[in-house]
Formats: sequence, C-alpha cells, structure tokens
Amino acid sequence: MSLDISITRSTKPRPKPPANDLGFGRFFTDHMFLADCDAGTWSNGRVIPYGPLALDPAAAALHYGQTLFEGMKAYRAKNGRAMVFRPQLHAARLNASAERLCMPSLPEEDFHRALRALLELDRDWIPGATGTALYLRPAMVATEPFLGVRPARRYTFFIIASPVGNYWGPKPSALRLWVETKAVRAAQGGIGAAKAGANYVASLLTAEQAKAHGYSQVLWLDSTHTHVEEVGTMNVFFRFGETVVTPPLDGSFLPGVTRDSVLQLLRRWKVPVEERPVAMSEVAEAYDRGELKEVFGTGTAAVISPVSELTWGSRSLRLEDRRGAVAERAFQALTELTHRGEPDAEGWLVEM
Ligand code: COI
Repeated sequence: MSLDISITRSTKPRPKPPANDLGFGRFFTDHMFLADCDAGTWSNGRVIPYGPLALDPAAAALHYGQTLFEGMKAYRAKNGRAMVFRPQLHAARLNASAERLCMPSLPEEDFHRALRALLELDRDWIPGATGTALYLRPAMVATEPFLGVRPARRYTFFIIASPVGNYWGPKPSALRLWVETKAVRAAQGGIGAAKAGANYVASLLTAEQAKAHGYSQVLWLDSTHTHVEEVGTMNVFFRFGETVVTPPLDGSFLPGVTRDSVLQLLRRWKVPVEERPVAMSEVAEAYDRGELKEVFGTGTAAVISPVSELTWGSRSLRLEDRRGAVAERAFQALTELTHRGEPDAEGWLVEM
C-alpha cells in the first residue's frame, strides 16, 4: 500500500532569492516533505512548511552516523511543471545506500510521490536561467533514541529543495586538485559507494588543508595510494589522446548519475571510453608524453567541471584553464537537454 501524504501549506511564503546570485545550497523553498518509518513501515507522509526538525538528543543519527542523502535536480518545464533529471536512478541509489547503512528502503513509488507532492507546492521556486536548477536533497536519518550500537528502529525521510546556481560560485574557474598521498577517504569494502554523510566528513580535513594551499579540491586515491578514485564531490574523467577513461565502480566511491549520463553520451557519440583502474603514475606519464588532453569532474551539483592542475607530490601537471573538447561537448549536451523544458528521447527527464 502506498504512503498517505497530507499537505499543510505555508502561510508565510518567503521572498524568492535573487536569480543572479543563488550560489549553492543557501536558500530553501517554502515547504519540505517528511515521512516516518517504524520497524520497517513508512507512514505519515506530509508536506509541511520548511522548518527545523525535532530530534531526540539520543537519536542514533547524531551518534553513530546512520544518515544518508541524495542530490538531484529539477528544471523548469515549458508547461510550467517540473522536469526531474533521472529520478529513478536516484531512488535506486538511495535504497542501495540504505541497504549498506542498515537503514530501511523506501519504495521507489513513494519516493516519486514524495517528490511530486513537494514540487506541486514549490514548483515556482525552480529558477529558469541556464545553469540554474532546483536542487533536491532527499535524506534519511535514524531518529530512534537509543544508545546501543545496532541499526535504529525508527527513521525520518525528508526532502528539502534549494534553488541553485553554479556550485563553484558566479565566476567558476577550472579546478586545481591536490592529489592526496597519505589520508584515505574510503576503502574497498567500506561505505564509500553509499551516499552517507560519513563519507563527506572523512574528506573535510584534507580538503581544508588543500584549500589552505590554494587548491580547490582533493583528488582521492585508493587505500594503497596508487589508483585514482574520485574528487569527493565529483567523479573524475581523463582523456588520454582520443580515449576517455574513468575509474570503474569498485565499491569505494559513489556511482554518480552524471558519471553514468556522460558515459552514455560518449558511447552514443562513438568516443572511445574505458572504465578501468587509472594509476596516478599513468596520468603523469601521459602528461609527460603530451597525451593528457583533459581532466574533468562530473556530479549533480558540479555538473561538468574542468581541472587545470593536479599536484602530486613534487609534480605539478598543468592543463588548460577551461573545459576541453569532450567535457565541453558533454556539458553543452546536458545543459541543452536539461533546459529544453520538454521530455527527452532517453526519458532522462521526468515531468512532475
Ligand atoms: C551532488 O553532486 O549532488 C553532491 O551530492 C555533491 C555535494 C554537494 C555533496
């Protein structure tokens, strides 16, 4: 049986933020969706005015990190409705994260109904300009007040929404990456592939150290510090000559929806693509031979962001300060598709 959803409209609509200065994750819409789970059964779906959650200080999420989230985008459709990018993949990934973190799965149908219910009320918060979107942040947290270490028995699922512009700010430049050779973010067999809050806190200290030295982000390697994994907020792609290579999904980093979309586009365009381990030494050797043509990151928030520098120990690999040919083609294709305002042939955009 599907989840009942009640609606309580806000009586105090907030002013919309300036369309040319949205930034990322700074503004939130008038409403949010919530549902509760007790011993595996979801109930009390509700759209209510946006506001703080009441959590018992003993809630398991606050102590043992049973939290997960998703990040997805909605775009304005020509008919005034919302077009959500690949919501089925996000629903599936949410449930894959839930399984790894011993949290309850949410039926995909309820996930979609929840999105629809929230967008029905907050659709006019979807910004229209190219490069903007309504970022949707579904999340699940363990709410049971209990200090024993075991999976909690009670959870809240919620969705909040934030009109966003470019993740890197109004004047994004190509990213300078620090290649980390001591710390690890995640390891094979761990929780790296789950969209768990814990994976992001694991990256903060090194990211802060990199930022203090003028780098934008950290390029994470595997636990032996040999092979490239991801950038923390993005998956990573390299072009060696004409061939585009990205690390395979080995369980230690996130299976990105934008990663999958870019791979599908490249294959459709007959660009040679390989999903295989990429040793950092291979990247440096390709650079020395003049074959490292471009490096870029992909992510829902970051879309497709070019990398202009990789600092690996004493080596500094420098590339052009803008998207290379492949990244640019994929970026334009995704931008055109998501801002078309109409369903696409692949069914990536779902009207809600
Ligand atoms: C996303 O791209 O949606 C992310 O989740 C990255 C980050 C903002 C946490």
